[in-house]
Amino acid sequence: MITHDHFSLLKKSSYFYLKKERSSLVAMGHIWRCAHLLLYCCLLLSTVGVQGSGYLKYKDPKQPLNTRIDDLLSRMSLAEKIGQMSQIERSVATPDVIKNDYIGSVLSGGGSVPAPQATAQEWASMVTEMQKAALSTPLGIPIIYGIDAVHGHGNVYKATIFPHNVGLGATRDPELAKKIGSAVALEVRATGIPYIFAPCVAVCRDPRWGRCYESFSEDPKVVQMMTQIIPGFQGEAPPSSRGRPYVAGTRNVAACAKHYVGDGGTNKGINENNTIIDFHGLLKIHMPPYYNAVINSVSTIMVSYTSWNGVKMHANHFLVTDFLKNKLKFRGFVISDWQGLDRITSPAGSDYHLSIKLGVLAGIDMIMIPFNYTDFIGNLTSLVHDNTIPMSRIDDAVRRILRVKFTMGLFENPLPDPSLAGELGKQEHRDLAREAVRKSLVLLKNGKYGEKPVLPLPKKCGKILVAGSHADNLGNQCGGWTITWQGLQGNNLTAGTTILEGIKSTVDGSAQVVYSEEPSPDFVQKGVFNYAIVVVGEPPYSETQGDNLNLTIPAPGPSVIETVCSNVKCIVVLISGRPLVIEPYINKIDAFVAAWLPGTEGKGVADVLFGDYGFTGKLSRTWFKSVDQLPMNVGDPHYDPLFPFGFGLETHPSY
Ligand code: BGC
Ligand code: BGC
Repeated sequence: MITHDHFSLLKKSSYFYLKKERSSLVAMGHIWRCAHLLLYCCLLLSTVGVQGSGYLKYKDPKQPLNTRIDDLLSRMSLAEKIGQMSQIERSVATPDVIKNDYIGSVLSGGGSVPAPQATAQEWASMVTEMQKAALSTPLGIPIIYGIDAVHGHGNVYKATIFPHNVGLGATRDPELAKKIGSAVALEVRATGIPYIFAPCVAVCRDPRWGRCYESFSEDPKVVQMMTQIIPGFQGEAPPSSRGRPYVAGTRNVAACAKHYVGDGGTNKGINENNTIIDFHGLLKIHMPPYYNAVINSVSTIMVSYTSWNGVKMHANHFLVTDFLKNKLKFRGFVISDWQGLDRITSPAGSDYHLSIKLGVLAGIDMIMIPFNYTDFIGNLTSLVHDNTIPMSRIDDAVRRILRVKFTMGLFENPLPDPSLAGELGKQEHRDLAREAVRKSLVLLKNGKYGEKPVLPLPKKCGKILVAGSHADNLGNQCGGWTITWQGLQGNNLTAGTTILEGIKSTVDGSAQVVYSEEPSPDFVQKGVFNYAIVVVGEPPYSETQGDNLNLTIPAPGPSVIETVCSNVKCIVVLISGRPLVIEPYINKIDAFVAAWLPGTEGKGVADVLFGDYGFTGKLSRTWFKSVDQLPMNVGDPHYDPLFPFGFGLETHPSY
């Protein structure tokens, strides 16, 4: 094989030969011709050499980004390009499929794991096996593996689970969001995964929406502020990279701002429904977080299932191509949502050929297929062959995908780093999550009218009652997107501390903590308790399953509040993804805390109830009186809340 080194050696030797023979002019001409011939041969051979093995421009990290992209793109067949645009689910991503269809990306759907309770090492070896298949293809383009890490690495056993976004919004602490971003990135990398479908930057305008907890706030400004989680995930882009996809290295992950755009604005909060608003309103309310995401170098953006004024976002060329790509100059890749193309038609999937045409022409670059990849590849190939989709559109998509893969260093470091396994669920991250829990709690009432504040409670509290379905239930306090897509109830799902455990480990040794999930009036009356802490709320849910038109506290929550608070000085802690109807009970309650969906670190609740820290959280959402007021957001003319947006009482630490 002729390499560059051989080539320069040959050049040198022919020069030497020339020098020796320079006495003869006749010989000179002959030699010149020979030398030229020789040089030509060498060049030819060296080119063959480059293509056959050694040097490939796109694999050289010293080459400028665009040179690498151009070089690789010029070598790719249509099949390889369409493969790059394909994202398939883990469960169908065998090494053969990855190899034969040149698959560019694999994802874990909610709850899709290599094995129940898989360790970091098991995750990493799964990714490694897939990656090796991708690297064994002629061009060796690495896959990018993606997963939802919307409140920590939720699918993964023993990961740290942080408060869901609605709680983070209540902290109003962008620095904290950034730290959480870095911690989550490390936990995700611990399992060998370089890409997450987070953050959700929805501006939830109606709490009846089942995904409201995935939204930081009803106020675009708060959502914008919390996009600081992106430089946490990806690492802070240097000034020269701002506004372009950026991932600092193998301790960070590529992020995905979702769901573009208007996902939180649907009619009655119905999931995947229609957002009716004029362009000005869209720009004012739902678009602002994307300005921040793009300027903060977000690598990818996911399109929303929703429609804008009746037009499916997955088919919206104006918003995806003209606005996001051309006007905002977003340079990363646009990814569809799960079966997002299928859902362009109704019923979903009824004309997949048309769906693919509309979605790809709208400007979607990577398609979260996630199962019927043969259909997708076949249809897209024919759409290109018959010129319905121009090659320039395919090249734009692939260019963007490759740009992200190159900038994040995936070609240089395609395989998991085993030294990061210990980052999963580590104490430092749990401490950070506990801090986030403390700061996310919003104190809405502290003492009945004319009475003294109840909180903070003394640690020497004597005998206290802890009651309610959410007091000792890790699954309930984590919510959806935890271990499974919908979340789980109970205490056997993963590692963490329940609120009850947190209380028990916080109070003084002299205190007596009695726990009864659903105490009878008799039990409460005879107990002679100094205080009661009632923890009730919503069961876990995600997406459409969480849509809810009445927003009442599920039974037996209200009756537990009633029973306990009629007899003992009571603190009610509500665990929910959104404000719920509380007005009928609020007068009976002595102190009321909105704790959102705090995650695995339940001790953060006790930290504040017992005064190790003060309450500082402020409502990221308006607390309505009754559902017939909805939608009702800060600034609305009919604004008449029970507790206004931004409200939150403060207490001082007592220790
Ligand atoms: C959700 C996305 C999620 C994707 C992959 C979809 O149903 O809307 O938020 O990233 O599934 O799990
Ligand atoms: C998947 C989720 C996905 C949802 C969409 C579920 O089966 O696990 O990841 O978001 O479907 O409908």
